[in-house]
Amino acid sequence: MSTDLLDDVRHAHEAALGQIAAVTSLDQLRTVEAQVLGKKGPLAGLKSRLGTLPDDQRKSVGQAINQALEAVGAALGERRQLLTAAALQDKIALERIDLTEVTARRRRGHPHLSTQAWERLEDVFIGLGFQIAEGPEVESDFYNFEALNMPASHPARSGFDTMFTDYKDDGSVLLRTHTSPVQIRVMQTIEPPIYMVMPGKVFRRDTPDATHMPVFHQIEGLVVDRNITMAHLAGTIDAFTKAFFGEGFNSRLRPNYFPFTEPSAEFDIQRPDGGWIELGGCGMVHPNVLRAGGLDPEEWSGFAFGFGIDRMARERHGVEDLREMFSNDIRFIEQF
Ligand code: PHE
Repeated sequence: MSTDLLDDVRHAHEAALGQIAAVTSLDQLRTVEAQVLGKKGPLAGLKSRLGTLPDDQRKSVGQAINQALEAVGAALGERRQLLTAAALQDKIALERIDLTEVTARRRRGHPHLSTQAWERLEDVFIGLGFQIAEGPEVESDFYNFEALNMPASHPARSGFDTMFTDYKDDGSVLLRTHTSPVQIRVMQTIEPPIYMVMPGKVFRRDTPDATHMPVFHQIEGLVVDRNITMAHLAGTIDAFTKAFFGEGFNSRLRPNYFPFTEPSAEFDIQRPDGGWIELGGCGMVHPNVLRAGGLDPEEWSGFAFGFGIDRMARERHGVEDLREMFSNDIRFIEQF
């Protein structure tokens, strides 16, 4: 009887090891573990029969069962370790990113339309002998209005739908409504002769439509030297028009009013097909503005201009609706 039982223990032991070795996943291992070590497993079954044995045999068979259970437990542990490591390797292999991968169609990004226009404008003006400066986007009332010959009560202020960050009777702070305040900062910082362009973001409380955005880009120009005349202004604008748009384009000045220039003009460019496009404002720097910049109007004279960069990009690429340029729709942006 006991030799039979010892044989049964040996068979159950070997069968369990065979089952464990055949397991290929952690899920399977859990099932097999319940089978071989569980209360209804073969070894447990043999254990329950120990009570029927005579005392002398109970001990040796009991020992054999315990050894078998231990060995099966150890085999399960080893297998679990192996399968866990393999599962981790699989996961790593699956999530691996090949950073050296070269695909047939490379998706390389490019600068935004406005950035392209901005950079081309800088190139053109550098070619004409200008330097580049930038100023803060959050400005004081002084630089945005006061120093540009627009004192607190000046009606021209109402032409700008200003966004104030701090509104008070004296010393308001605002998102700059144009790049003209940089004129003053440049005059205060460097000695004439000044040949400078100043691109940047500007802000107005405008509702977005096909030709307006509340945030847009302007480029300001400022020249201060001796004996500068309106002819220099007209010549510079024409040279710029041809360099930027092409030889087939012309420019013209139309009388206008700005508080910070006198005389002032609006400048338009003419397409080869004859149509006119309104681009921006310009004029001879007002004596009060030169004074605010710390310069003597008896000694120095100059001209300034300012126009919208996004509109130029829109014009160059025939974009119908300005809003499209800022909607971040990849299908639109990819075209340029
Ligand atoms: N700052 C003016 C505007 O935003 C444009 C301008 C600049 C006009 C310089 C004259 C001289 O409308």
